[in-house]
This record gives sequence, C-alpha cells and structure tokens, in this order.
Amino acid sequence: MKEILVEPHVNEIVMPDNLKVGLMIAEQRKRCSSGGCNEEYYALGFGQSPFHVPPPLVNALSENAHQGHYSAAEGILELRQAVAGFNKRHFGLDVDPERIVVGPGTKDLLNTLVGMIKGGVILPSPSWIGYRPQLNLQGKHFHTFHLKPEFDYRIQPNDLDEFASDMEGEQHMMVLNNPHNPTGIVYSRQELEKIAEVCRKHNILVLADEIYALDTYDMNNFTSMGLVYPEGTFITNGLSKDRSAGGYRLGSCIMPENAEKLAKDFKKVAATVYTNVSTPTQYAAIRAYEPNDEIEEYINITRQIHRIMGTYLSARWNQVDGVRATIPQGAFYFFADFNELSADLKRKEVATSNQLAESLISCPHHIGVVTGDANMLKPDDYGARIAFVDYDGKKAFDDYKDNPPKSELDEIEFVKKNSPMMVKSVESLKNWVNYIKSN
Ligand SMILES: Cc1ncc(COP(=O)(O)O)c(C=O)c1O
Repeated sequence: MKEILVEPHVNEIVMPDNLKVGLMIAEQRKRCSSGGCNEEYYALGFGQSPFHVPPPLVNALSENAHQGHYSAAEGILELRQAVAGFNKRHFGLDVDPERIVVGPGTKDLLNTLVGMIKGGVILPSPSWIGYRPQLNLQGKHFHTFHLKPEFDYRIQPNDLDEFASDMEGEQHMMVLNNPHNPTGIVYSRQELEKIAEVCRKHNILVLADEIYALDTYDMNNFTSMGLVYPEGTFITNGLSKDRSAGGYRLGSCIMPENAEKLAKDFKKVAATVYTNVSTPTQYAAIRAYEPNDEIEEYINITRQIHRIMGTYLSARWNQVDGVRATIPQGAFYFFADFNELSADLKRKEVATSNQLAESLISCPHHIGVVTGDANMLKPDDYGARIAFVDYDGKKAFDDYKDNPPKSELDEIEFVKKNSPMMVKSVESLKNWVNYIKSN
C-alpha cells in the first residue's frame, strides 16, 4: 500500500513545545547517562497544576458514573445554572444560564469559537502555546501583536489603537488571557476599561481566556473583562487549573450580552462535532461549581502556594545577571527575558530563541523551559516561559494546611522544603549564564 497522505495543513502542525521539552529531557537523559552525568533535571517547561483533584469532585464523578445517556450539547441546565452562580459569587458577573455553553475543555471551546466568529484574530505575543496551532489548523487569518518588555508585556491601549487602525475588515477578535500565561501578569480594572474603549472603537470582540482567574494571588486584583465589556466579550474558564482537573475536560464559555443567538449557533456546532461533554463529568462538575466549603478552601490554599512558589522563583531568577523576569500576580508562570545576553548567546552559537531551550537543557545545565516560536516570539527574541510547578502538590498542600507560613521567612522555608529542585534551578541558571559569557 502507498504511503497515506494527509492534508497539507496537518503537516504544518507541530507537537506543542511544552511536550517537546519533555522529549528533550528524555533525549538529554539518554545522552547524559552514557556520558556518566548524574546531574538532576529542572522541569520548568510543562505547566500543569501539581495538586490533587478536590475530593468532593472525585466523589461526585464516581457517584455519577452510571449516567450513560447522551446529554444536551450546550451542557445540562443544572450545570449551566451552577456555572452562573459560581460566576456571580466569584467575579460579580450576572449571567443568564442561556448565555453559557459547556464544552470539553476551554481549548475546544476556543477552537469552536474562532471557527464560528467572522474576521481575523489578534494574538498578543508572547502568548500561550495553544492558540496559534489551532488557528493554523483552521486556516484562520491572524495578526501577531508584539508586546513590549518595558511594560511587562501588558497590552498598551495606544499601541492596540495604532495596530488596529492598520487592520482591514469589519470585525476582529482579540485573545486576552488574564491572568496571563506566560508572564503571570494580571490586568487592573482601569487597564481593561481602556482596552475595552479601543475594542469598541475598532469593533474588536474579546476572547477573554480567564482560565487562571481564581489563581490570582490577590483576588482584589482580578476583574473579569465581562464586567467592563459585556457586549463584546466571550469568557472562557474551566476545571483545569484552580480545581486541577485538566483531564476531566470541562470548560465553560459565557457569550456576550444580548447575543443569545450565538449560544444557539454554538449548540449546532457542538452537536455536530462532539454531541456533548461526557455526561458523568457534567453531573460531577455541578459539585465543583456549587458552593462547597472544602472546594473553596482548596482553591484558597492552592492559590497561596502558587503565589509563594512564583514569588520566590521569579525574584531569584531576576537577580541573575543578564536575566529579567516578570513578577507573577497570578497563574503558575513567569517570563524571563535573556536579550541582555544576546551578543554572548550568538557567540556561543545559540542563534535563535528556539535554540535557547536547547542550550538551557544541555548538559550539565538541565533546565527545561519553553522558548521561541511556541511563545510566538520573533526568532531573535530570547525569551522563555518558566512554569513553577515542579513539586509534589499533595505534599505541599498538606504541609500548608497543617502549618501555613506566617512570614516571608516561613514562605522561603516552605519553598526550600517542598520544592528543593526549583531552589537548585537558580544555581544551575547562574552557572549557565557564566558559561554563556565565558570565552
Ligand atoms: C492560557 C490557557 N488557556 C487555556 C488552556 C487550556 O485549558 P483546558 O484544559 O480547559 O482546555 C490552558 C492550559 O494550559 C492555558 O494555559
């Protein structure tokens, strides 16, 4: 039989870089073990919540395992009502369940939405690795909007205004991820209001990916874009991050105000593509959205641990000569800028941002991070996403619960005890910088 051919757009898709980092580590391990190297690896590439699924959600899933029937494509009503209540309690959003659709993870929801909504997409860069491959797979036109390190990669309304003035077409959609993967920054209400003004002016819809909303370290700092731009915002969120159930595959999308027809259009697409999100998962998820003290406590504890780990590691990386790190205010990433070292990097034949990841993982440095294309950086922009989840989440959770750190010093001790590998990564980074600068 002849080789089976695939459509050209499939060949253009590559494995996501966070997974590639895992493969790079595996390869380096092989090389190192044959060379007798015993140095450890710093897994700062893959960004998954390290915590256990909250027990009430686990129990609810097993209690609902018998629900073998098909269910509503847009999500069962009880779940959408629970999602509406959750959004009211946590974010002050008043949303009719008719505006809510449930999908198999926010990734799938984002994919469906960009396929449905007319016009090009504005993708701010650096960005989460997941957006661009989806757009490529769909053949969707997009514009990369490069953000500036001097503003911590925050969207500047004037820059957006100028950028949008050069775009053609009657309608656009911008992805606004807040809190932001990969920088960890959180937009203030005033910043969002100014961005919304520009969006109104240029008829830009906002795809507000707020999957890390409840991982904002100080919830007073979080405002949903749906509050300031309700007529033009799609809000996506789900169980994957603050409730650590990425594998359950359940997310929700709130449609813009007065756009109920879109929910119906969405239902048609969902019914055509995947019928419904797994019915037991939907019933279980009701427990994760309804008021539940244990889940609230879980979210509070895990958010504090993310804050402690991110504050520690970004401050230490920032102190390393030639490295500038953002200070995360939410989620579990920060972004490190290595451009001060660009002349030395070129001299050491690290010619592109993609090669920065290869250099950092090489022996004996062994630091796994995501760089380059995957973050939508220009080839000569040396930047890296650092995920700070390299520790045993259950152990850290129990430790925090039994003995919550009360001071900055306690927090440092907490990091040293629970994530010695992250602590050690700093020494390895310093050694790598010395190597890059050496003749
Ligand atoms: C910014 C961002 N959006 C969306 C997702 C995907 O979430 P889900 O598991 O709901 O598809 C992720 C997961 O890494 C993410 O970091």
